[in-house]
Amino acid sequence: MRIIVLPTAAETAQIGAALVAAVVDRNSRAVLSFATGSSPEPLYAALREHADQGLDFSEVTGFALDEYIGLDPTHPESYHSVLARDVVRPLALDPARMNVPDGLGDPDTAGPAYDRAIAASGGVALQILGVGANGHLGFNEPGSSFASRTREVTLTARTRDDNRRFFGGELATVPGSAMTQGIGTILEARSLLVVANGAHKAEAIGAALEGPLSSSCPTSAVQLHPSVTVLLDADAAAGLTRRDYYAEANAAWLERVRAWPAVLALQS
Ligand code: GLP
Repeated sequence: MRIIVLPTAAETAQIGAALVAAVVDRNSRAVLSFATGSSPEPLYAALREHADQGLDFSEVTGFALDEYIGLDPTHPESYHSVLARDVVRPLALDPARMNVPDGLGDPDTAGPAYDRAIAASGGVALQILGVGANGHLGFNEPGSSFASRTREVTLTARTRDDNRRFFGGELATVPGSAMTQGIGTILEARSLLVVANGAHKAEAIGAALEGPLSSSCPTSAVQLHPSVTVLLDADAAAGLTRRDYYAEANAAWLERVRAWPAVLALQS
């Protein structure tokens, strides 16, 4: 794992955008998988700068990491709408190439169909991930199997409470369940890019990156992946014990990304 700690969330967004841009620069038909939530929003905004400078996203295929069950895709807080707003329109992706799990159909068929669509695309080159304050990955809540596939999950009270800010603060309007790529599905992406900012993520990040592998912290599953980059602001990294080592080990890499991101390969 390459764990990068930067002073501010804005800097994690810049570096994260450079890494995503490098993937698309190498392959204009890249398959990317997109998290939603507040963590990747600044990264997507920074990616817009690359698009404005001429990076072409029109042939990129996208997969959403998850989607609420029971929200119409036209609902402003459906992840279908969020990704249209934050990714598809600003980066000029072809809307027909953005796939989102079906939150209105039969989950028993929608989940396997989504995994088949990912496989049929050739597989995800880069999976962009946030981390829940309770350690969830996508909507894989604590207790999710590391082998899980795309499926329906019941959201925890903590997650619904964390996300009610997107629903006007009204807990009753936050859906109780969601479709999410499974942890096994996520781990099949060729590279993972994890972004977390803020003190409220510090405990989950400490457990995920330096704690034991455990379904109690679904994000700890990223330790099993051979190519993971984790971008943290100082507050989110506060619970890590090896911060000095990560800084020393990654200083030269970070300098290269800052200097010339487009030629950089994501490496573990
Ligand atoms: C959300 C999403 C996840 C996201 C996580 C963290 O509910 N389903 O994909 O990574 O929870 O959210 P945020 O970045 O807003 O803290």
